[in-house]
Amino acid sequence: MKKTVLITGAAGNLGSKLAPALADEFDLRLTDIRAADNIVALDLITYDDSWGDLFRGVDTIIHFGGEPSPYASWERVHAANVVGTSNVLLAAKRFGVPRVALASSNHVMGGYRYIPETVSSKLAPTPLNPYGVTKLIGEELGRAFVAETGGDFLACRIGNIPRGDNPPGKHLGVGTWWQEMWLSNRDFVEAFRRTILAEPFGFRIANFVSNNPGMRWDLTEGEEAIGYVPQDGSAAIADEESGPEEKKTIEGRYSAEEWLELFVRQTEGATKFGGPRGVRFK
Ligand SMILES: NC(=O)c1ccc[n+]([C@@H]2O[C@H](COP(=O)([O-])OP(=O)(O)OC[C@H]3O[C@@H](n4cnc5c(N)ncnc54)[C@H](O)[C@@H]3O)[C@@H](O)[C@H]2O)c1
Repeated sequence: MKKTVLITGAAGNLGSKLAPALADEFDLRLTDIRAADNIVALDLITYDDSWGDLFRGVDTIIHFGGEPSPYASWERVHAANVVGTSNVLLAAKRFGVPRVALASSNHVMGGYRYIPETVSSKLAPTPLNPYGVTKLIGEELGRAFVAETGGDFLACRIGNIPRGDNPPGKHLGVGTWWQEMWLSNRDFVEAFRRTILAEPFGFRIANFVSNNPGMRWDLTEGEEAIGYVPQDGSAAIADEESGPEEKKTIEGRYSAEEWLELFVRQTEGATKFGGPRGVRFK
């Protein structure tokens, strides 16, 4: 019998890549904040018992719905990512859905850009922005869901997968760091396919990136949990545009002020709290 899969955020970038790719193999239910073709409207921020119509009988929820910008304000990410995920898990529990996969993020481990380690869930999380913090909270809500229900929850720490054809390359941005976490469309689809089909796995965390030569993202946890073995990979291009920034990053040669300007003050509203401009910290 076909498994039934509910995809939240189905109208977005990842939802609209995944749904057509899985449509033949699974019975799909699609939802987003606004209704569209085959997509049922549901605002994840406001839980309602009528959600039962959509959640009852589902085998796996793939939870993409939320705020994806690493520069979004606390207000936005708290509502969309913490309250939204909490409501999805409440509905999963109430309507008997045994498995949830959260679109978590590389941003949970964003600090390892500056710490030369292999990035696995064995290391402490290091989110550097409100977005990353809310993804970490979502993961921990999932851990509680598993403890309470005995179901499965996969925290999918997704790398970098922009809209469209998604070729690898320098356009992926942020020095070489965001090139090193490129996730091809093909590997992305297969990772979620395996999440749906895997034997019960309890609470697990997996890096969803392609097998990019030279990257520091650990792939063993995804293979152990769901048998995810990426087929694609692309080495980062470190040239005069992308390389020097990465070198400066790894060597810790940014001043605190430069770092704030580059990475923190881009967050919506951050200049209000980021201290006076023009003050050097070192
Ligand atoms: N694309 C990436 O590279 C990447 C990397 C890591 C994690 N992620 C995560 O994957 C998920 C999907 O990302 P995306 O690139 O498709 O983003 P997206 O913005 O294209 O899609 C998100 C969807 O969620 C919907 N949504 C937002 N708030 C909602 C609410 N309150 N109720 C219901 N639906 C709501 C939006 O309408 C949108 O269609 C996000 O949670 C994002 O944080 C994406």
